[in-house]
Amino acid sequence: MTRVLVVYGSRHGGTKGIAERIGTVLRDTGLDAVVASAEVTEDRDVHAANAFVVGSGVYMGSWLKEPLEFLADYQETLAVHPLWLFSSGPLPGSSKDKQPDDPVENALGPAQGPGSGGRRKVEELISITRPRDHRVFLGAFDRHDPPKAFAERVVRMMPGSGNILPEGDFREWDDIEAWARQIAAELAPVAVG
Ligand SMILES: Cc1cc2nc3c(=O)[nH]c(=O)nc-3n(C[C@H](O)[C@H](O)[C@H](O)COP(=O)(O)O)c2cc1C
Repeated sequence: MTRVLVVYGSRHGGTKGIAERIGTVLRDTGLDAVVASAEVTEDRDVHAANAFVVGSGVYMGSWLKEPLEFLADYQETLAVHPLWLFSSGPLPGSSKDKQPDDPVENALGPAQGPGSGGRRKVEELISITRPRDHRVFLGAFDRHDPPKAFAERVVRMMPGSGNILPEGDFREWDDIEAWARQIAAELAPVAVG
């Protein structure tokens, strides 16, 4: 049976929820899907898998360290297996949601120039691992959930942070589930005759 390893990096649980939903949809289609945090993924999880989905919450235009390290550490394996990436993600109306035709720019910023460092790191790993797709899904933000990193604390304290960080759960469950079904369809064995 095809085993899909769904690996995520998540600070506040939004991306974890997306990864878990993808895993549920994949299992519902009859695939063997394992969902794991990039922090705890081990060699044996990777070697047991035939396909991979890797996602990260985006902070200040960058993927979190652990999923980036996962892509870097296992780049040779990922490059020769089916791989899908997702970023989560812009909050509607935030300063990161201004390019309706360019979701990657909304999440990770410009491809070049100032503010492009986080995106270039992801794109360098994309050029090595060659995922079949990189999707951007809207995220979630709950300001009652305490900040988990210094930079996050600083952004939240900035005047006008309510406009930069609109509060709410904007995760696009229908799109997420449809994307997972598309992944399952690509992994399904081709029917013969
Ligand atoms: C301090 C801060 C900075 C953020 N920066 C970005 C960003 O640069 N691009 C983006 O698309 N989303 C950004 N977001 C939105 C998060 O990606 C979104 O809340 C996501 O759902 C977080 O995922 P997690 O709950 O798995 O950590 C930011 C959120 C916070 C709190």
